[in-house]
Amino acid sequence: MAPLTAALATPAAAALLLLVLLAAPASAANFTCAVASGTTCNSAILYTSPNATTYGDLVARFNTTTLPDLLGANGLPDGTLSSAPVAANSTVKIPFRCRCNGDVGQSDRLPIYVVQPQDGLDAIARNVFNAFVTYQEIAAANNIPDPNKINVSQTLWIPLPCSCDKEEGSNVMHLAYSVGKGENTSAIAAKYGVTESTLLTRNKIDDPTKLQMGQILDVPLPVCRSSISDTSADHNLMLLPDGTYGFTAGNCIRCSCSSTTYQLNCTAVQNKGCPSVPLCNGTLKLGETNGTGCGSTTCAYSGYSNSSSLIIQTSLATNQTTACQKGGSGRSQFARSMWSMSVISFHMVLIIICFL
Ligand SMILES: *[C@@H]1O[C@H](CO)[C@@H](O)[C@H](O)[C@H]1NC(C)=O
Ligand SMILES: *[C@@H]1O[C@H](CO)[C@@H](O)[C@H](O)[C@H]1NC(C)=O
Ligand SMILES: *[C@@H]1O[C@H](CO)[C@@H](O)[C@H](O)[C@H]1NC(C)=O
Ligand SMILES: *[C@@H]1O[C@H](CO)[C@@H](O)[C@H](O)[C@H]1NC(C)=O
Ligand SMILES: *[C@@H]1O[C@H](CO)[C@@H](O)[C@H](O)[C@H]1NC(C)=O
Ligand SMILES: *[C@@H]1O[C@H](CO)[C@@H](O)[C@H](O)[C@H]1NC(C)=O
Ligand SMILES: *[C@@H]1O[C@H](CO)[C@@H](O)[C@H](O)[C@H]1NC(C)=O
Ligand SMILES: *[C@@H]1O[C@H](CO)[C@@H](O)[C@H](O)[C@H]1NC(C)=O
Ligand SMILES: *[C@@H]1O[C@H](CO)[C@@H](O)[C@H](O)[C@H]1NC(C)=O
Ligand SMILES: *[C@@H]1O[C@H](CO)[C@@H](O)[C@H](O)[C@H]1NC(C)=O
Ligand SMILES: *[C@@H]1O[C@H](CO)[C@@H](O)[C@H](O)[C@H]1NC(C)=O
Repeated sequence: MAPLTAALATPAAAALLLLVLLAAPASAANFTCAVASGTTCNSAILYTSPNATTYGDLVARFNTTTLPDLLGANGLPDGTLSSAPVAANSTVKIPFRCRCNGDVGQSDRLPIYVVQPQDGLDAIARNVFNAFVTYQEIAAANNIPDPNKINVSQTLWIPLPCSCDKEEGSNVMHLAYSVGKGENTSAIAAKYGVTESTLLTRNKIDDPTKLQMGQILDVPLPVCRSSISDTSADHNLMLLPDGTYGFTAGNCIRCSCSSTTYQLNCTAVQNKGCPSVPLCNGTLKLGETNGTGCGSTTCAYSGYSNSSSLIIQTSLATNQTTACQKGGSGRSQFARSMWSMSVISFHMVLIIICFL
């Protein structure tokens, strides 16, 4: 058997590699994505950094996100420096755009990895990408007929596993999770706010006692509900789990998600080229709430369009938590603590892009 390396490899390394190959399953992840082909959404992997590094290096290594969005996905403070350290073996959520094709979801043509001297496909899959993909999947995604033959400087698309499927009718963000030593499905489910039965069903696990270290699980994280309209380009992208935030509408809008309301809270960002957003209903600023409890109204972000100029849309939304509705019984864990929002009025707020 030829060694799976781009350049030189010693017989010892080849033998080691063979052992590793025999011990591992051929297909690491098996995420299903039943929504229409071509659907995109945001997704993430829980990445364990193999070396001591920085957030900036992780942004460059994955090439799927920006520093602000990486910080947001991890609930880290705005303004954390790209040079801030990431310790070896610490975990960081790496967000990326997922694209569904037929039955499977894969990261949307990114990350792109450039083959280095001494690299092999299997080592890249395991050592750089935590075995979230297998070398066979990388070979297939890049139409590489012989996985033993890759060239230095060749670029590879690394197809990370993901999904855009809803869970029990509710939006979720799918997190790819690599099972650690001695972990079990009940503890993993509890940690991420999903029920164990959801986790088992989603991953087609019949016998949870057979869970293996290194197995890749699809964990459908509950996300905040939003007022973003279905026609907005970002309606599938602002899927934010509890404790996270993200940017949209050309980075002019920052949205955060907190489990106290489970309603996306968006505010305007005063970036260059992002003029102040006019008030909702003539009085409320984006993100402000009038009143408290049932019937209170919030000025919510409801999407953007971008034909000739950037148009940001806002709408007033009413707090209609199930607790506020007589006889409302939140059956699903995802629906329980969420707001049900009703759009009262709709404002088109034209943002004139400054060319300064
Ligand atoms: C992956 O999915 C395919 C198609 O749904 C299925 O046939 C196969 O058994 C799955 N593999 C694993 C390891 O779950
Ligand atoms: C950590 O490892 C990655 C992948 O092998 C590499 O690209 C990066 O340069 C390393 N970072 C540091 C700080 O060594
Ligand atoms: C990804 O890397 C390529 C090549 O280095 C670069 O041109 C591109 O801008 C990067 N994309 C992102 C999203 O970082
Ligand atoms: C990281 O984890 C690996 C495997 O558990 C271990 O061998 C290594 O010593 C750890 N490195 C650090 C810096 O903790
Ligand atoms: C790798 O290099 C070989 C020999 O130069 C060449 O025939 C082959 O087309 C290259 N493959 C890729 C994917 O660049
Ligand atoms: C699962 O793991 C947790 C944390 O390690 C432990 O407390 C719990 O007893 C385990 N449950 C089962 C069923 O093994
Ligand atoms: C809006 O369109 C312009 C020009 O096509 C483009 O440069 C910009 O990235 C777009 N902004 C968004 C938020 O899509
Ligand atoms: C929404 O975010 C703004 C700015 O971060 C904050 O002042 C406000 O209290 C938040 N509203 C809710 C309902 O959490
Ligand atoms: C919206 O404005 C109208 C009058 O401009 C006012 O009567 C109404 O109460 C306002 N609604 C909210 C939710 O602030
Ligand atoms: C709050 O709502 C009340 C009743 O709907 C309305 O009279 C008042 O003008 C609103 N205040 C603001 C700041 O929108
Ligand atoms: C919405 O109303 C419910 C019920 O009164 C309350 O518990 C919740 O805090 C309210 N949410 C906000 C953001 O005011």
